[in-house]
Amino acid sequence: ETIEGNGQILLPGFVDLHTHLREPGREDTETIETGSAAAALGGYTAVFAMANTSPVADSHVITDHVWRRGQEVGLVDVFPVGAVTVGLEGKQLAEMGTMAAGVGQVRVFSDDGHCVYDPLIMRRALEYANSLGVLIAQHAEEPRLTKGAVAHEGPNAARLGLAGWPRAAEESIVARDALLARDAGARVHICHASTAGTVELVKWAKSQGISITAEVTPHHLLLDDSRLETYDAVNKVNPPLRESSDAAALREALAAGIIDCVATDHAPHAEQDKCCEFAAARPGMLGLETALSIIVQTMVVPGLLDWRGVAKVMSEKPAAIVGLDDHGRPIAVGEPANLTLVDPDAEWTVRGAELASISNNTPFEDMTFPAEVTATVLRGRVTAREGKAVGI
Ligand code: DOR
Ligand code: ZN
Ligand code: ZN
Repeated sequence: ETIEGNGQILLPGFVDLHTHLREPGREDTETIETGSAAAALGGYTAVFAMANTSPVADSHVITDHVWRRGQEVGLVDVFPVGAVTVGLEGKQLAEMGTMAAGVGQVRVFSDDGHCVYDPLIMRRALEYANSLGVLIAQHAEEPRLTKGAVAHEGPNAARLGLAGWPRAAEESIVARDALLARDAGARVHICHASTAGTVELVKWAKSQGISITAEVTPHHLLLDDSRLETYDAVNKVNPPLRESSDAAALREALAAGIIDCVATDHAPHAEQDKCCEFAAARPGMLGLETALSIIVQTMVVPGLLDWRGVAKVMSEKPAAIVGLDDHGRPIAVGEPANLTLVDPDAEWTVRGAELASISNNTPFEDMTFPAEVTATVLRGRVTAREGKAVGI
């Protein structure tokens, strides 16, 4: 098959370090199959499926299943993320070694979405992960500061009567874990950085030689808490949309390499979990199929990144953080490539109902964005073409 690429941009396949698929447990909102289709359409050739499934991915039985099912579907490499701790309690370390040695070959561990963050558990987890050569991805939320909070703590939430979620809930954990990583001589990765203060802390930690990396989501780059006005729970996300000055600092940090990469935090939710009162709604928004366009809009259009830079933050850097090569797979020279072809001149309007995800909770409904993924190639095989996922 020949793909005509005139006037288009050829990039290495995108790698998403932070995707919530809902298998096992909530297959009514996303499955490995539908999430894989969304990923392929978004230009991704590798995604890391977060551990807050039901049951939690705290044993190799689940992580092996996620890897196997992803390979069976064949649209994207679905790398399982293992839970750092057992169950929902966050008290006892999971058997990371068994998960790393299993069929799923787990290389990233996280308690995103369900954990209690005891500092001693974190310190031990960092040491354990370091001895295994795997990465801990930290959701960075001090739960004692977010109890009952539903939106960024600031003038907007105060005016609207929404309980506030302070920046310190994130920043205190970023600072703490940078220091824990320093003392343990271990690496730590910060999930979904959302504040200007987190940028400053990551910058400081890097200047001290601490092995810290950080990701930012497309929604935290583009959106801010002025969105709360409508009380539409589609804008409820964890960490919350912050102020426009935070979004500006995140864009600058991504351009400067202080924040290493983009990760979607793709979080599908059912209609009934999003249509209720803001306080009762589940946090999270779709991300896989819109990520590239949001990055073009927020970073390329204003001149903060060129296409070389897009390749870095969407593919090369996330791949390097988890020990994959530029093309989102274990390092092997001379194999067919993982590639993403982008039409930079295209424009499209987001409609949740038309996305491949089962769920429709996109915050970008009816918004028009530049640039479109026109083809995705996984190990030399086309997985998406002109807006359609191509099954095996
Ligand atoms: O917004 C979020 N949604 N943040 C998380 O940490 C978890 C995620 C989810 O699983 O829905
Ligand atoms: Zn999270
Ligand atoms: Zn998440």
